[in-house]
Amino acid sequence: MMSFNNILIEKNNNIARIIINRPKKLNALNKETIDELHEAISELESDEQIRVIILTGSGDKAFVAGADISEFAGFDISQGAELSRKGQNNLFNFIENLSTPVIAAINGFALGGGLELAMACHFRVASDNAKMGLPEVSLGVIPGYGGTQRLPQLVGKGRAMEMIMTAGMITADDAKNHGLVNHVVVQEELISFCEEIAQKITFNSGMAIGAVIKAVNANFNSGINGYDVEIEQFGNCFGTADFEEGTSAFLEKRRPKF
Ligand code: COA
Repeated sequence: MMSFNNILIEKNNNIARIIINRPKKLNALNKETIDELHEAISELESDEQIRVIILTGSGDKAFVAGADISEFAGFDISQGAELSRKGQNNLFNFIENLSTPVIAAINGFALGGGLELAMACHFRVASDNAKMGLPEVSLGVIPGYGGTQRLPQLVGKGRAMEMIMTAGMITADDAKNHGLVNHVVVQEELISFCEEIAQKITFNSGMAIGAVIKAVNANFNSGINGYDVEIEQFGNCFGTADFEEGTSAFLEKRRPKF
């Protein structure tokens, strides 16, 4: 594994943890951090040992407090569009479409690009001190890393409109009530709780989980018929060693080894 300036990687058996590590800037996403996340995630995706990735922030205050405002304050129209396009392609859409599941462990502020990053993950767990919001309109801009699309998918259009228009922050409990996070736990237990979920995932077929991600994501991709993607992905499973192992293990009354 290569070394990075802004992120740390820890591996524990089949589970990798990526820690965004700019605590003095509340882990704000500068360009270098986005590039490093892309590189680290690509590397973990091609590591056969790694079956689940947990993404979190360093310290006990912030997951990610947004895109690094100091980097884009002077941008013009085309630089703004390019920032958004590149970020979406290299990191946010990249995570969403990864075949390795990524769990966001939201350990504090998840604002702007930080909440967008958590929403690009496959699901989210928050610590009880976490605060979430999309404050971009307070800066005269809109969410640019998929926030206008993914927040309505998770919380519904009306709530998303209110959150984005008010630029307000919601608590972890409210986020859970709205379906934005799946669980809220005390901060000291956040990582172990995520690791328990991750471990359950590692017992299942990684091939099948990758296919689930493709099929579920197809539901949110206009122009693609999700049922057709499901048929294709379902069919593909029948040609795999995991399917042979999973069904044989069931019939032989033993645990499968994926
Ligand atoms: N971009 C760049 N720097 C950021 C940042 C961001 N999104 N969020 C925080 N920081 C920096 C602060 O500038 C400060 O740096 P400094 O010590 O060099 O001055 C440092 O992180 C600590 O933040 P600070 O504001 O002092 O902490 P706080 O506890 O008073 O407030 C927040 C915490 C999260 C409420 C506040 O930092 C904030 O509103 N951040 C911006 C959130 C935002 O609008 N994000 C959307 C960006 S699109």
